[in-house]
Amino acid sequence: MRRTVLILLFISIALVSLSAGGEKESMFIGVSVYRFDDAFIGEIRDHLERLSDGDIPIVIRNPENSQNKQNEQIAGFIEEGASAIIVNPVDRTASGVIIEKCRKAGIPLVFFNREPLADDMARWNEVYYVGARAEAAGRFAARIFIDYWEDHPEADRNGDGKLQFVIIKGEPGHQDTELRSEYLMKTLAEAGISLDRLDEESGMWERGKAESLMTQFLITYGDSIEAVFSNNDEMALGAIDALEKAGYFTSGRYMPVIGCDAIPEAYDALSDGTLLGTVLNDAENQAKAIYNIAKELAEGRTPSESAIGFPITDERYVWIPYTMVLQSGDSEYNH
Ligand code: GAL
Ligand code: CA
Repeated sequence: MRRTVLILLFISIALVSLSAGGEKESMFIGVSVYRFDDAFIGEIRDHLERLSDGDIPIVIRNPENSQNKQNEQIAGFIEEGASAIIVNPVDRTASGVIIEKCRKAGIPLVFFNREPLADDMARWNEVYYVGARAEAAGRFAARIFIDYWEDHPEADRNGDGKLQFVIIKGEPGHQDTELRSEYLMKTLAEAGISLDRLDEESGMWERGKAESLMTQFLITYGDSIEAVFSNNDEMALGAIDALEKAGYFTSGRYMPVIGCDAIPEAYDALSDGTLLGTVLNDAENQAKAIYNIAKELAEGRTPSESAIGFPITDERYVWIPYTMVLQSGDSEYNH
């Protein structure tokens, strides 16, 4: 009799520990990023994969730039029992709906790259945001150009004392499109450069679209363009493609082009001399902050600076600094 009890006790202990172990193993963090074919977001995905290796696994899904699909994916993660969810929203104004769903299910959320509206962020205390201050990126882009303009009087091609330029913008409504552009202009103006904006269009962050836009700008404005500013590197590279086809960057024909992100291909363009400068949008540290916050939340803790490795502002925001990246390959801050 005693033996049977002991055996039963042993079996039940074994079962309990098995199921506890099983639970830990089946733990996962759901990730939905707005689309997979975005170079910068692709870098963050790679870092997230690497960070989760040997730790809480992640399941990454691609809503292909459809907010409906992303909402379905998030509902799916909730049903499948995700321990935390990471979202790079298709439309940042749709974040409120996502927050409500997760709040009801009690599954903590980490947004990144597309900042939810402050009112939405205030709906629940288990919602975090990891991003970078777009204003700073605009200021750095301007500083790269100001140095160039001051060192190269011939950059004012028509000698009218004004800068004739075009801007290739990112997705309309994205904080990185609006603020990078605004602070770029402000900083150029503060440095005493008279601005003559010839044109601006959205290239939707895409290289191919930017190439067509630049081709169009060259047809319309020709050599009167003195600089090209782009809200990201993909589009700066697209503009460079168009400029190269139009005969720039050979036999002394030059056009200053400035991007943002510092994706690997941008470094090649910097060393080729086709890209004047860019600003590092630090995918690696953003991914670290995102993953560490999600992990802390998934394991039931409130993220702290010491646990995640980055300072937290306004209780639930982590801002990763941008850094300037110049043609020499050096950044001002030795990154
Ligand atoms: C920006 C980045 C762009 C694009 C966009 C997507 O921060 O500079 O290249 O990835 O995010 O939301
Ligand atoms: Ca001029």
